[in-house]
Amino acid sequence: MAYKGMSTKAVHSGERPEIPTGAVNTPIYQSSTFIFPTDDPRTWDGDAPEGTYMYSRKANPTVEVAERKIAELESGKRCLLFSSGMAAISSILTAYLSRGDAIVSQEDIYGGTYGFLRNALPRMGIEVRFGPTADTGALIDAIVPGTKVVWLESPSNPLMRLVDYPEVAKAAHERGAITVIDNTLASPMNQRPLEMGVDIVTESCTKYLGGHSDLLAGAVVSNAFDISAVHDARTSFGGSLDPFASFLLERGMKTLPLRMERHNRNGLEIARFLEDHPAVERVHYPGLESHPQHALAKRLLSGCGGLMSFEVKGGRQAAERAMRSMRLIKMATSLGGVESLVSMPSSTSHRSLPAQERKRLGITDSMLRVSLGIEDAEDLREDLDQALRASQV
Ligand SMILES: Cc1ncc(COP(=O)(O)O)c(C=O)c1O
Repeated sequence: MAYKGMSTKAVHSGERPEIPTGAVNTPIYQSSTFIFPTDDPRTWDGDAPEGTYMYSRKANPTVEVAERKIAELESGKRCLLFSSGMAAISSILTAYLSRGDAIVSQEDIYGGTYGFLRNALPRMGIEVRFGPTADTGALIDAIVPGTKVVWLESPSNPLMRLVDYPEVAKAAHERGAITVIDNTLASPMNQRPLEMGVDIVTESCTKYLGGHSDLLAGAVVSNAFDISAVHDARTSFGGSLDPFASFLLERGMKTLPLRMERHNRNGLEIARFLEDHPAVERVHYPGLESHPQHALAKRLLSGCGGLMSFEVKGGRQAAERAMRSMRLIKMATSLGGVESLVSMPSSTSHRSLPAQERKRLGITDSMLRVSLGIEDAEDLREDLDQALRASQV
């Protein structure tokens, strides 16, 4: 049955009503292998027929429930789950790029993706070109003949820059390239790029989709575009998701719409609070009227989420003092969980970038990144205020 609303999809999409016990929740098929039906010789010739299972590296019924739910939420037809966001990202890149091909990426992207593009792909004979994130024309100009993939991430981590991805996807198609977007920071609650012409959406489900900081997972989703090559890469590299992690992910996604509502609200309220704080130099959050891409944010996003970065007055030492003084907000990397976290991008998520490159992109040493959870905004404000005051000694 096709559901209309995102909340109904989050709770019910992917369910398998045919499971004989009538269990309301998805059973965990914690089995690496499945007994071949002896009366169906096709099973012995290769892949298991549709609706049957053979080996969990290829397909598993618990994993498939979570895959179907994500496909519905992202307005896609097919989803493949991986053991982490990076397993999903590296599988897409190796599935669609070969020696002699080129890829164009916006320049500010998650540090792990940047490291893979910068280090692994050139070793495979693939040319990697970077273009400015917020300058659509210049990014499109970088899509020269031979480009097979255009890699986007919007909003970007940690600067919350946006890409006009409908425009870039259109231009990429005209030039014979496919467009992939990392939708981790928005989640399908805040934007669904497959509806706007993007070919593949990838997400670190470790973040908002799972939502409880208790699992690692990655998704690859498409609508009309055939992602069988990504399925083959998953089978070959072995980055399949475990059934128990899939169960946690599917359970977590049931509350995604409610959580995102609170993340969006806390995000905007705290961004405004930080913008007015005397110890803060600058806030990067597209929901703020002062953000240079606020108009684009209003066009592309229905909410800006709980992640933002800001620069503390007084440089790296002041930023470190602020971070260490936070009590409710815990010092840890990652984002998208129900709990609020703070980290310093220059020494965590973007450590792999050369210092010069970080500086050029605007990831300063005085920058802190906060991932606001679903706590009460008043408590978050108080914690940030006392920490920022403590930073200005
Ligand atoms: C935007 C983005 N994409 C991908 C990843 C990688 O995901 P994972 O840690 O699940 O491998 C991260 C991790 O922080 C991320 O922030």
